[in-house]
Amino acid sequence: MADNKKNNNKVKIWQPTNLYGNYQIGRGTKIGAFCDIGGKIGKNCVIQTMVSVPPLTIIEDNVFLGPGVRIGNEVFPMSGKLSGVRIKEGAIIGMNSSIRAGVIIGKNTIIGQHSNVVADIPDNEVWFGNPAKFYKMRMGIT
Ligand SMILES: CC(C)(COP(=O)(O)OP(=O)(O)OC[C@H]1O[C@@H](n2cnc3c(N)ncnc32)[C@H](O)[C@@H]1OP(=O)(O)O)[C@@H](O)C(=O)NCCC(=O)NCCS
Repeated sequence: MADNKKNNNKVKIWQPTNLYGNYQIGRGTKIGAFCDIGGKIGKNCVIQTMVSVPPLTIIEDNVFLGPGVRIGNEVFPMSGKLSGVRIKEGAIIGMNSSIRAGVIIGKNTIIGQHSNVVADIPDNEVWFGNPAKFYKMRMGIT
């Protein structure tokens, strides 16, 4: 994961977007407008419009976050007990999905649009729904 200060010229962020302190964004990552961005974001990610990535989130390389994705970092708001989400390399999170604080989403896994993810999800699977449930293994593009 690269420091955004070293690779600033290769990161594209559409404005207006809010950046929290201590964020990192890897080379080649693109971020749409009206986002809230913190934590560590890897290389060549696509983060579409109106996405929340709060502090403590870790997003690995080549991750896609569809428009309106919301990531939590506090299961019990105002408790001050924060836990970051981790989204592993190559995962795709469909538009308007919510990811509960502390959840880990596996490598290359797909979360369908409008899902509510409340527990860890393994690698290479497709899940959707509220709460998100296993649908099938991910094969090739889908
Ligand atoms: C999850 C997903 C990858 C599944 O695609 P797929 O394998 O082609 O699945 P299908 O379209 O054949 O749907 C299979 C079944 O699951 C249901 N389904 C699919 N996605 C769903 C979702 N997100 N929520 C609820 N049900 C869903 C379908 O209604 C269908 O149900 P049925 O068998 O009872 O008719 C896809 O639906 C999706 O959500 N992609 C994300 C799109 C997105 O957010 N893009 C970014 C913005 S453009």
